[in-house]
Amino acid sequence: MAYRVVAAVLVAAWLFPALAEGAVRHYKFSVVMKNMTRLCATKPIVTVNGTFPGPPLYAREDDTVILRVVNHVQYNVTIHWHGVKQLRTGWSDGPAYVTQCPIQPGQSFIYNFTLTGQRGTLLWHAHISWLRATVHGAIVILPKLGVPYPFPKPHKDVIIVLGEWWKSDTEVVINQAMQSGLAPNVSDSHTINGYPGPFPNCTSQGYTLHVEAGKTYKLRIINAAVNDELFFKIAGHNLTVVEVDASYTKPFTTDTIFIGPGQTTTAILTADQPVGKYLIAISPFMDTVVAVDNFTASGFLRYKGTHAFSATALTAMPPQNATPVTNTFTESLRSLNSKQYPAAVPLTVDHSLLFAIGVGINPCATCVNGSRAVADINNVSFVLPTTALLQAHYYNISGIFTDDFPGNPPIPYNYTGNTTTNFQTTNGTKVYRLAFNSTVQVVLQGTALLAPESHPVHLHGYNFFVVGRGVGNYDPLKDPKKFNLVDPSERNTVSVPTGGWTAIRFRADNPGVWFLHCHLEVHTTWGLKMAFLVDNGKEPNQSILPPPSDLPQC
Ligand code: C2O
Repeated sequence: MAYRVVAAVLVAAWLFPALAEGAVRHYKFSVVMKNMTRLCATKPIVTVNGTFPGPPLYAREDDTVILRVVNHVQYNVTIHWHGVKQLRTGWSDGPAYVTQCPIQPGQSFIYNFTLTGQRGTLLWHAHISWLRATVHGAIVILPKLGVPYPFPKPHKDVIIVLGEWWKSDTEVVINQAMQSGLAPNVSDSHTINGYPGPFPNCTSQGYTLHVEAGKTYKLRIINAAVNDELFFKIAGHNLTVVEVDASYTKPFTTDTIFIGPGQTTTAILTADQPVGKYLIAISPFMDTVVAVDNFTASGFLRYKGTHAFSATALTAMPPQNATPVTNTFTESLRSLNSKQYPAAVPLTVDHSLLFAIGVGINPCATCVNGSRAVADINNVSFVLPTTALLQAHYYNISGIFTDDFPGNPPIPYNYTGNTTTNFQTTNGTKVYRLAFNSTVQVVLQGTALLAPESHPVHLHGYNFFVVGRGVGNYDPLKDPKKFNLVDPSERNTVSVPTGGWTAIRFRADNPGVWFLHCHLEVHTTWGLKMAFLVDNGKEPNQSILPPPSDLPQC
């Protein structure tokens, strides 16, 4: 009898793997300085375990990750698991002064979270100052055991991390810029898995992807760059996109991938060309007057059996200002929305918000030009507190933040027109409060105050659905009629087009304090950020878990 019950349970667990509990994965991340040589010069950089990019984190859906970060450098450190939903575990989310105080030199902290309802590619990165320039790596969430991919299983999995290399120390770059009020410099080269490829006056190494003719490869492409949205191309080959931000998509084929900082794209490459060497290249997208690192980084796709001296097949990158290429790519993205992976788009909206986001100038007596560059949402330049918002919320500490973040611009104006009104912003540490399980629509409206610019906006703690986008000012009467509420792309980071808008929806079913910000690090620093405070629900499993005992103190 007992045997039969056990057998039934085992069979049930095998038939319905969702009932089976995930494994526990232990990791140790040591934050250490390491000398690295790039662009023919050597400098010390902050790394995890001495590598650039840092080590990949592998786990399956439903697994619990217990990851100890030990800080051996002179900087305060935190790590963010970008795109991991962190259901009820906001303490492990990572943004400094939002969900935790930083890990101080010589200290450590154990991040502990479960990967629920997500599978695919994400990234982890430092979330304090500009340390993520070199402190970043891949997160690979494999499907639950026995659950297939919704596409043919490729021969091999390949991680491709895109980044930036700065000859200067990025901490010095941003500190000087904040003192002077001027825009910081741009990086010196882009990198593919840590390497820029051939660089002027320097024989620089490039990344090589080895393939065999006839086989398929799953490329997990991650943009970990500090400030640049990028185009990614492989000469002579198409790519089939199957997943973005750890959400499956309807497969579509493209020769160019457009990817903003914080975004991930998983695409299938078929090695279907004649044996030889093909260029892999990344170049920046910038369709306005803002300075950008214009270096095209390159690597190689190399077929097995390629002759040593065979020439490399080249590819032309899109022009830097190729807005149409970005539109085509973005508009091709659709949720898979299958029976197994339905798109749970909120069809009604409890909170309808309009966030005017952009860059402006404030007076500054001590700055070089008597003014400083700032960025804002609804005229608020967000200032991080000196203790963490989540602690202040959990322990009811008053005086750290207020919950009056404006849901609309204080004065409506022609956001994308020529205007000099509303130039100044106010500093504030304000959150927008949401009841548990309420539904939210945020129209992210780019502004043109200084220069209109494309903003990859990231929300912590959730995926959202990208229900609409357009150029110019959002029209609350006409535009919602064109919203896609059936199979919009599901992401955690979305590019708001230059001089245009993007509408997102999500259900606030994860209690905690969740950061929303532009993932161009320079704009985050200038204040293009805010936080949602999502209250606990009524049921016991709808509350924030208690903080871990080793949570760092400020
Ligand atoms: Cu990838 Cu708040 O960041």
